[in-house]
Amino acid sequence: MKIIVNYDILINKKNGLKHDYIPSNLVDVASRYKDNIKLEEETYQQWKALQECVSGKCYVIEVESGYRSYEYQDNILKEIIDEKGEEYAMKAVALPGYSEHQTGLALDYCVMRDNIFITENDIDQCEESIYTNSIAHKYGFIVRYPKGKESITGYKYEPWHLRYVGIDLATYLFVNNKTLDEYYEEAENEKS
Ligand code: DAL
Ligand code: ZN
Repeated sequence: MKIIVNYDILINKKNGLKHDYIPSNLVDVASRYKDNIKLEEETYQQWKALQECVSGKCYVIEVESGYRSYEYQDNILKEIIDEKGEEYAMKAVALPGYSEHQTGLALDYCVMRDNIFITENDIDQCEESIYTNSIAHKYGFIVRYPKGKESITGYKYEPWHLRYVGIDLATYLFVNNKTLDEYYEEAENEKS
């Protein structure tokens, strides 16, 4: 049976998921960064295609984090609050139930260079991530928390967090420099 997935689902600070929501078509992800990562099936297929394209430039990118359960997100949030305080954590980590990672459609990636992994903020100026993020839309991904859109997304810039929305929507958002939040807001405004 074909599973219907809402690839354009909006998850943000106002729109969450049920505590017990688990995507039904999670698959295992091969990553040199770590084991036991899962993603939604089409998201993973498209990630592999993106990774392959990027490898044509001799760049290596690997998944660092994929699907996260409600409980796992809760643990991450608590850890970051302990380490960096609540104010920082609220701009960096979603509340459990409000993370795109719970959909299986979002991933964090890192760059691998000379057997060393470059993660999170450190990938920002890497040619690998600059290239990846410039072509990600062709494979259906958006940089979900872009620089300059912090007040709209509610999160600080995350060059490593890609969200799968499908090629058409990703291309539309990329070409028009819009976030998924703005896309939904405009659709709402058009209705009223
Ligand atoms: N870092 C993103 C916002 C998350 O926790 O889902
Ligand atoms: Zn993320």
